[in-house]
Amino acid sequence: MAYGADQVEMPPVENWLTDWDWLDDQWGVNAIDIWNSVREQCPVATTERYGRAFMPVTMEAVAAVANDTEHFSSIWVNVSRPDAPRSPAPPITSDPPDHHGHRRLLLPAFSPKNVAPLEEDLRAFCRGLIAELDGASAADAAEQFAQHIPVHGICKLTGMPEEDADLFRDWIYRNFQLAPRDNAVRMQVMIEMTAYIEELFKDRLEHPRDDMLTFIANAEIDGQPVDWNLKLGYIRLLIVAGIDTTWSAIGSGLWHFAQHPDQVERLVAAQNDDLLWNTATEEVLRYYAPVTMARKVIGETEIGGCPVHPGDQMLVTFPAANHDPAAFDHPEVFDIDRANNRHVAFGLGIHRCVGSNLARLEVVVALQEWLRAFPNYSLDETKTTTWANGQVRGPRTIPVLLNR
Ligand code: HEM
Repeated sequence: MAYGADQVEMPPVENWLTDWDWLDDQWGVNAIDIWNSVREQCPVATTERYGRAFMPVTMEAVAAVANDTEHFSSIWVNVSRPDAPRSPAPPITSDPPDHHGHRRLLLPAFSPKNVAPLEEDLRAFCRGLIAELDGASAADAAEQFAQHIPVHGICKLTGMPEEDADLFRDWIYRNFQLAPRDNAVRMQVMIEMTAYIEELFKDRLEHPRDDMLTFIANAEIDGQPVDWNLKLGYIRLLIVAGIDTTWSAIGSGLWHFAQHPDQVERLVAAQNDDLLWNTATEEVLRYYAPVTMARKVIGETEIGGCPVHPGDQMLVTFPAANHDPAAFDHPEVFDIDRANNRHVAFGLGIHRCVGSNLARLEVVVALQEWLRAFPNYSLDETKTTTWANGQVRGPRTIPVLLNR
């Protein structure tokens, strides 16, 4: 099937309350303002662009969806055309009771005990990227730094080949930026990823290694082998959940701090284990939370006073909840000392992020290494920062002056 053969064109959004679209060009740059403006009028916005789909923007409404697996299924985890081909990626696409077994299988690999030893390697990797900028007066902090770090982390943890990074990023771009409007692209990405992962599994079944790929290729739950397509789904998920999510969080932090030298000064003066680094990292995650999920409505109910029906789609707008004044004091202020910060960047309920330990480590290490190497860096105002729209929102180019 040729790309674009099944594409739907959408006009620019003029009314975010009744016609929202997460692939609209304004979403990437202006999403926080959009959510705030919707929240002032109503807790839930609607659209008919992808069939009927809702967008809750308050903590109360987002939490109600995330905690209710009886009316909201994870079988659809993004808002796309209703006839979109969907493939399983457990545990994120699983509902109870299956969800628990799939999640239990992945959790140990992402435990603090398993992730903490990666710190030194991640630091060395970041320093290597910084060394490549030796002598440069300007750089792209997303393309030359942020985007590489999570690929390195996930490859170290799973055994996937890091030299295929461009392939992973291309799948992610097409999957998140194009596929919601274009079934042909979604199908093609699925075919390519499946073929790729099958080759890796075949290799590990013939030549087992001490890595996660080998473990997943042989996965069993309660003594029963896991279905082949679900095993492929675990790795499909780790590729799409583990890379541009953290790359977006690191990039957002770098974009933010480039404009706040006073905060950089305090952070550079702090030791690695100072509380300040902890509160600052959590504030990056709250303020710039990159991940918006979705659910399929499977039972009649209401959210924020809005009736919803089986077959409707529902965003789980975690980033919007992080800006709800009913949940945070002055959410519009980026406060690196924010002590009480119960943000939901990693989700809520049974699907809460499995990779949060790894993500937090990658974000803090990347920010520490960059800010210390370039304490005077600033945005290059002659160029433009570009943002990814949709499910994973974050800067994809961040032109900066290094001001050594
Ligand atoms: C800053 C980076 C990240 C953010 C903001 C983030 C956010 C999220 C969110 C909001 C969910 C909940 C999904 C839902 O409710 O449907 C989730 C689930 C998940 N994330 Fe992350 N994530 C990040 C990094 C990672 C990384 C690095 C990995 C692994 C390599 C990962 C693996 C997963 C998995 C496997 C799930 C599914 C858990 C389940 O369904 O039980 N994530 N993530």
